[in-house]
Amino acid sequence: MTFEYADRINRLPPYLFAEIERVLKEKKAQGVDLISLSIGDPDLPPPKFVIEALKQEVADLKNHNYSFSQGEPDFRQAVSDWYKKRFNVDLAHDQVVAVLGSKEGIANIARAFVNPGDQVLVPDPAYPVYANGSTILCDASAVPMPLLEENSFQPDFDAIEPKKAKMMFINYPNNPTAATVDKKFLKQAVEFAKDKNIILCYDNAYSEISFDGYQAPSILEIDGAMDVAIEFNSLSKTFNMTGDRIGFAVGNKQLVTGLTRVKSQIDSGPPVYIQKVAVKALASYTGREAPEFLKKNNQTLQERRDLLVNTLRKIGYNCEMPKATFYVWVNCKGDSMKFATKLLDVGVAVTPGVGFGKYGEGFVRITFTQPKERIVEACKRIVSVL
Ligand SMILES: Cc1ncc(COP(=O)(O)O)c(C=O)c1O
Repeated sequence: MTFEYADRINRLPPYLFAEIERVLKEKKAQGVDLISLSIGDPDLPPPKFVIEALKQEVADLKNHNYSFSQGEPDFRQAVSDWYKKRFNVDLAHDQVVAVLGSKEGIANIARAFVNPGDQVLVPDPAYPVYANGSTILCDASAVPMPLLEENSFQPDFDAIEPKKAKMMFINYPNNPTAATVDKKFLKQAVEFAKDKNIILCYDNAYSEISFDGYQAPSILEIDGAMDVAIEFNSLSKTFNMTGDRIGFAVGNKQLVTGLTRVKSQIDSGPPVYIQKVAVKALASYTGREAPEFLKKNNQTLQERRDLLVNTLRKIGYNCEMPKATFYVWVNCKGDSMKFATKLLDVGVAVTPGVGFGKYGEGFVRITFTQPKERIVEACKRIVSVL
């Protein structure tokens, strides 16, 4: 027996990363020594103190009941404390909601505010969940905001005509371009959202992965942001906990409440033991500065970044030295799919930019989430084939 999918499912493009995983598996099965520089999942482990906390919290039998849709009070307090330390932003208890990773929050926020036929402004290229999991699954339509090299991969708000736009996604440090922004840009974004009455969803998932002394801001540091913005972040990248599915959404009270209302009909919050581990993880910050383990992680990533970017530049490819994220966005001077296929032939997997949207064409995203010796080997292969 077969069933017809709902129209919205038929409108979804194939999930890029699932497709990449499939090709990589196939290659591995053929015995290829594959170096995957394609998926944004850190190879570094969570810090030891997090694993110790996990063992302790999971063994506590009180930590296996339902949580609350909004998350445990202790967890929400820990998130508020972290925002105060890290960004000097004050958050009340009803301005924080726990999410099962920021991906879930990003997808579900639209369910609370977006009606069928509404428009959602989405960067292009971008993390695909804004246009798909969020917009298409709400029967809304995504309006691309091109991120062009000549604009430093920032949207041009003057060029946007938001006729029916209800919501807008913005993400810096950016996946896939690795671009970063300053507060001047964030101020423009807040003013644009307020002026046009658009909900501003700010994805700050890479806020803590940064190099050369750069520290990413929060949109909530900007005057007036609390009137229009909700910010998403998680422990996934900061603490190398992608599989533990714990994150948070914070900001405007009505936006947080809307998301919580959706979630109360769908899930019952992340596992209590994970939230308690997250409390301990976030408490490792004593101020604005990154804690020691994170400085060390970022140092490791920075060395890999330097290796990769210097190799690419040496062989004539133009790419910025990213100040944040674990991605390099490379102008591949042509068809990104062909370029990625060429590298795949020598066992190096990268992501064609066109997979992140039509304005991603002409670029590939290379991830440095592999140990240094594998990056060195990948560089050798890249040099040999280009
Ligand atoms: C830009 C961006 N936002 C959000 C996420 C989701 O992260 P998580 O759901 O693990 O918090 C990712 C994951 O790769 C991402 O690249």
